[in-house]
Amino acid sequence: MVEVDVVNLLHDGRIGLAPMEGVIDAATRDLLTRTAGIDWTVTEFVRVVDARLPPRVFLRHCPELAGGDPRTPSGAPVHLQLLGSDPVALAANARQALALGATSLDLNFGCPAKLVNRHDGGASMLRTPWRLRTAVSAVHDAVGDVIPVTAKIRLGFADRRLALDCARATEDGGASQLVVHARTRNEGYRPPAHWEWIGRIRRRLSIPVIANGDIWTLEDYWKARTLSGCRDVMLGRGALADSGLAPRIRHWQGTGEHLPPTPWADKASLLLDYAAMQRSILSSKTVVARLKQWMNHMRGRDPEAARCFQALRRITELDDFLAGLRASMTSEAPALPA
Ligand SMILES: Cc1cc2nc3c(=O)[nH]c(=O)nc-3n(C[C@H](O)[C@H](O)[C@H](O)COP(=O)(O)O)c2cc1C
Repeated sequence: MVEVDVVNLLHDGRIGLAPMEGVIDAATRDLLTRTAGIDWTVTEFVRVVDARLPPRVFLRHCPELAGGDPRTPSGAPVHLQLLGSDPVALAANARQALALGATSLDLNFGCPAKLVNRHDGGASMLRTPWRLRTAVSAVHDAVGDVIPVTAKIRLGFADRRLALDCARATEDGGASQLVVHARTRNEGYRPPAHWEWIGRIRRRLSIPVIANGDIWTLEDYWKARTLSGCRDVMLGRGALADSGLAPRIRHWQGTGEHLPPTPWADKASLLLDYAAMQRSILSSKTVVARLKQWMNHMRGRDPEAARCFQALRRITELDDFLAGLRASMTSEAPALPA
């Protein structure tokens, strides 16, 4: 009976698309929310140091702001993420974001990058929960009456000793929702993700806690939800590796059916759409680099993606790359363009 209840509980729950700097831009958010599955998205972080940033910086990270209510074309809300440690600067930029039309602000306390951490941003804040609370509270005082302020943390910097204190600090500071990436900063992206630790946090907080880290398959989704007890999850690399993951989870939630694996042709078609959207905005070289980066996320879990990546990885010309990609959709082994 207990098992049946758990399965019933798993049949709802929201799915967020994780922020990924240099990877998940507005075009990717658009593409990954075209099929039902993703309920909300988050921008790449806007780095806040000491000054109020000009509108163009916000619009670069979140072009969706230009339409007023920031959403992807298919309607998924886009939350704007800020990264910083100075409460005054964070508050000033939160007000700026609000004035530009942001409808939800997320604060990044998980970034492991050495440069960011050296300047006291991202995961380095996890060493001092009181500072984390001050930062969240400054942003909440600035805009919290008008729009929600949320936070994203890891389980700690070097170890998990302060995990609960950090989580509580975000709630005490006024965060209305917390995403927990189930690893410490020093664990980087190495498996496993400690989903049971998200459960420990969830039990101590009264705000919704969202499970994040290493959800690559429907089975991972069940495990992450069961071990964390969280209703909602956030998908990052898993959604890039398999654009069908969120729709597969959504389909299973609605019907109990398991959809077949996403065909390579569907994934390649998504990459072609991405290139078509970006080639008038970015340089050809950058588009090729972005395509390779996305394929790199796909190839670990899809032999056809791995074969195609191997065949195309040395190509730098965009049209050649796209020709190879198109060929890979119909032939067994992608042909290298002459
Ligand atoms: C290349 C890359 C860029 C990322 N950029 C951000 C970011 O801008 N903001 C953020 O909060 N997390 C960022 N993350 C962390 C992800 O949002 C997510 O927490 C992490 O990848 C674990 O989830 P996953 O296993 O589903 O990918 C990034 C991760 C990667 C791999």
